[in-house]
Amino acid sequence: MIGFCLILKAAIVAAAKNELVAKGELEMINILFIEHDGTEHPVEVKAGGSVMQAAVSNGVPGIDADCGGSCSCATCHVYVDSEWIDKLETIGPTEEAMLSLSTDRQETSRLSCQIPVAENLDGLVVKTPEFQF
Ligand code: FES
Repeated sequence: MIGFCLILKAAIVAAAKNELVAKGELEMINILFIEHDGTEHPVEVKAGGSVMQAAVSNGVPGIDADCGGSCSCATCHVYVDSEWIDKLETIGPTEEAMLSLSTDRQETSRLSCQIPVAENLDGLVVKTPEFQF
């Protein structure tokens, strides 16, 4: 019974969110992906997924996401623009462990599957590393 109630609640919340998007009352989030050669890929997504999902669903090159977002492949490595890095949630231990294996890690390196797309990230800028192409 509790499971059914949770499913029903999730369905009601999702329906309400879709209604807000349809009415234009829920903003889309803009993310700019920049390739190593400067090619820009602006995408617009709803809040709720990850930055990796935003890239993959919009055909942004350089984000393979081989593990599907389970933080076990590091093929979604991005360099977050320095103006945005402090707005992100802190790195978790698994993400830290994966990034520590990268010889191309930089100060603003993150795994994009571990960055939730939220309203406060509208305008986020990330660069895709050359080694992922
Ligand atoms: S998609 Fe595999 S670590 Fe991010």
